[in-house]
Order: sequence, then C-alpha cells, then structure tokens
Amino acid sequence: MDFRTQTASFDALAGTNADALIVLIAGEVLPTDLDAGLASLAADALKLGDFELKAGKAIALQRPAGVKAPRLVFAAAGKPTLKAARAALQLGLAQLKGRGAVHAAVAFVGFDAMTESLAEQFVLAASDSLYTYRHTKPSAPEAGKLAKLTLLTNKADAAAPKAAKAGMARGQAIGAGIELARECANRPGNYATPTYLGEQVKALGRTHGLKVEVLDKKAVEKLGMGSFLSVAQGSDEPLRFIVARYDGAAKTQAPVVLVGKGITFDSGGISLKPGAEMDEMKFDMGGAASVIGALRAVAELKPKLNLVAIIAACENMPSGRALKPGDVVTSMSGQTIEILNTDAEGRLVLCDALTYAERFKPAVVVDVATLTGACVIALGGVRSGMYASDDELAASLSAAGEAALDPCWRMPLDDEYEEGLKSNFADVANVGSRAGGSITAAKFLQRFASKYRWGHLDIAGTAWKGGAAKGGTGRPVGLLTHFVLSQVR
Ligand code: BES
Ligand code: MN
Ligand code: ZN
Repeated sequence: MDFRTQTASFDALAGTNADALIVLIAGEVLPTDLDAGLASLAADALKLGDFELKAGKAIALQRPAGVKAPRLVFAAAGKPTLKAARAALQLGLAQLKGRGAVHAAVAFVGFDAMTESLAEQFVLAASDSLYTYRHTKPSAPEAGKLAKLTLLTNKADAAAPKAAKAGMARGQAIGAGIELARECANRPGNYATPTYLGEQVKALGRTHGLKVEVLDKKAVEKLGMGSFLSVAQGSDEPLRFIVARYDGAAKTQAPVVLVGKGITFDSGGISLKPGAEMDEMKFDMGGAASVIGALRAVAELKPKLNLVAIIAACENMPSGRALKPGDVVTSMSGQTIEILNTDAEGRLVLCDALTYAERFKPAVVVDVATLTGACVIALGGVRSGMYASDDELAASLSAAGEAALDPCWRMPLDDEYEEGLKSNFADVANVGSRAGGSITAAKFLQRFASKYRWGHLDIAGTAWKGGAAKGGTGRPVGLLTHFVLSQVR
C-alpha cells in the first residue's frame, strides 16, 4: 500500500482528485467548515433517512453531482475520539471493499487537530483491512484493488503535515510488525515450527541489521534450562531459543528486554487438552509473534535505545518421553519445580527465559504470553492482562496500550496469591488452584524475575480471535512498540 499525505482546503474537498473520497465525520451536526457541496450531499442523505451522524453509520454514493471523485463515502464517528476515528475509518474502507477504487483520499472532519496518533491509526486501519492470510490458502480472495491511500490534512491546521508524517511513519512500522505477527500466528503448527520462528528472526536480522542468535537443544542444555527442556522433550520437533538485539544507543545503556512465549502447538502434553478447538493452540506462540512484530517495528523506527528480544520456542506434546505430572525439574535459576499439570507449560519455558534475561542487566523486562484460560475469563478479548513489579512501569504499559488502541488492564500481585504454588517435593509447583489462575501464573513467573523491573502481559484473550473470523490479531505489537519508544531516555 502506498500511503501519502496531502494538504487540502477543507472548504473545497469536492475537488479532490482520487477514485474515492472518504469523509469521516465526528459530531452530531455537520461541521460548519465542511465543503458546501459535500455538506449539502450529506444533509440530503440525512434528510432522506439514509445516513445518520452516529457511530457505525455510513453511506456510499456513486458519481454525486459536483464531486470530482466518482465515489463518495461518508462515515460517521460519533465522538471525536481516536477510537471512534479508527472505527469510522474501518467502516469507510469497508464501503470500498471488493469495489474498483484504486486510490482513496480520506479527510477527517469535525475532529480536533490532526495528531500523530490519528495519522498512525489511519495507516493501521488500512493495513488491517488489506491483510489476507494465503500461505496455505492461495485461493483466498484478494482484499481489494485499493493500492494508494491519501490522508488529506486541513490547510487551516498548520501543524498537521508534520504530525501526519510522523504518525504515518509510526503506523507503517507498527502495521508491518502487526502483519508479520499475524502471519506467524496464522501459519499452522506444521509450518510455524520453532525452527521457522528462528528463521523469521534471522531474516529480520539480515533486513534490519540486528544481531541474532538461534540456540538449539545442545546450547540450551549447556545453559541449564531444565524447565524449558522438560516441555520440549515430549516433541520430535526441535526447540529453538532465539535472541535478537537491536542496538540504537551506547553499549553501556541498559536494554529493554522483551520475552515471548513461543509454544508453536500446545496439546497440553500428558495433561492433554480436550479436543474441541484444540487447533487454536497453534496460536500459543502469539507472545513470540508479537515480540517479533514489535522488534521489526522498533528496528524500522530506529529509536535511541537498546532492545533485546528473547523467544523460547517449542511444542508441548504427549509421548513416551514427555514430561509427566509429578516430575520435578530444575530451572536455570536453580529453583526446582514440581509439575502438577503439564498443560501449564508456558510458565515453564518463560521462567528460564526470564533467568537468561538477567545477563543483559536490563533496564526493564516485559514478557508476553498466551498464558492462561483464566485471563480470557477475566478480561475477554478486549484488554490484555497486565502485571508489573512497580507502579511506574504499570503506568507506562497502560499508557502505551491506550495510545496504540491496544489496551491492557493491570492485575494484582499480592503475595497471598502465591500460597497455592507450595510443593512438598520442590521449591515451587507449576500450578495452584483454579481460582485466580492468571494471577497465580504471574506469581510463578515473578519468582524468576526478581533481579530487574518486570512486567508481564497475559494475552490469552487478545492474541487471536476464534469463530468465523478465526485468526491472529497481531496484538500487542502496538502496545509493545509504543512502550519501547516511551523508554528512550
Ligand atoms: N496456552 C494455554 C492458555 C490458553 C488457554 C490460552 C485457552 C488461550 C485459551 C496454557 O498453556 C494453558 O494451557 N494454561 C492452563 C493452565 C492451567 C493448567 C493451570 C489453562 O489456562 O487452562
Ligand atoms: Mn498449556
Ligand atoms: Zn500454552
């Protein structure tokens, strides 16, 4: 997609040169500064009852009189918020889906001044509407003919071009990161193997100048990652421990570290999951996918900081060699873990990755994981579960989520939640009782993250959608990228 920005007189928008003109309108009345011809077309549609200035309402007109573009779309946003703007744009673009327009020009009217965030969402909504999974379904229909999108900024808004340019650059970087994350997540487990994830990061290393190391079983054994190894041992698919570094500041500057859960298929292991919807456990590498996506976005935006991405990737399978309930394993940290449920494997791979992160003397570590079904029950698919070792980090992660329209919600870490993880046979058990399952999982991880500021995102509800629109969402690439950018000192 070719994204452009162009200044325009909003009182002469009808003269815009494009195949389609999309006018996104905020507010309950037509803005007074809107082009008179367009305003009378909109007023007519309102009078006929074909259009309403309410969120979710849109109308497409062909060859309206006095308008240069052969297609005109009005979409109402309701309130002039960022979220409403994104929804209106998605709605406006949906009107063109499967149509002939190649070049669409978009104007936001009735909104406050153009902001970087608005321009970013402009790009993101468009990239989102254009993505189609086709790797194992080449017959999937094309998303449409749209190849060029122009963001029209109001000539009266002097600061708009600069905001639009910066916001669109961020949107393009995040959009490419989201697309990469979705593609990794959507590819089936027999395609998106740990080896494949390693190859993806290596390829990113070559195109974006990153240092990449992909460790195999032997190297992981040498590091003493007994917990990670115990999950991988039941599968014939080789594990990978992937480390990538983006160096954007002096070597002496402590890096931000992102850690992703990369279970490329989670059968539950010996504690086998029920059959219904088990296919969706191919998405259990959603944390890893989002870390790869954010890494790509950051490498493209080149902020002045250092970033390390760590991914622990393997399958969780039952077999004659698989980990068994009752087994005790020794983590890289030295803590022993009694396995009470082999389906609580995410924390077992993450704990060793968190210990490994210590060697970077990080400024902050954030892990991202499709960790618990309990988080889906708690927060559904709207907000990711967020945990943080201090209030300032929690505030940064929250703010990043709001700015990216990729929101999270802080969850508690009271020590009482750790009670259930006691074991008679090891330092800690890998599961507690069912109650507060997302929190006990976080408490387990916290035991391995005591050496640095630590945040944890449980994205079990947000990383993918089930049902008819089944597929990876690319979340929380937006949140992570905004968070990393916010850490520049
Ligand atoms: N990958 C799952 C978490 C999950 C479940 C994500 C459903 C999305 C939807 C994780 O490995 C898991 O199986 N967790 C168990 C933990 C339990 C055994 C303590 C769970 O949530 O049931
Ligand atoms: Mn599991
Ligand atoms: Zn899992």
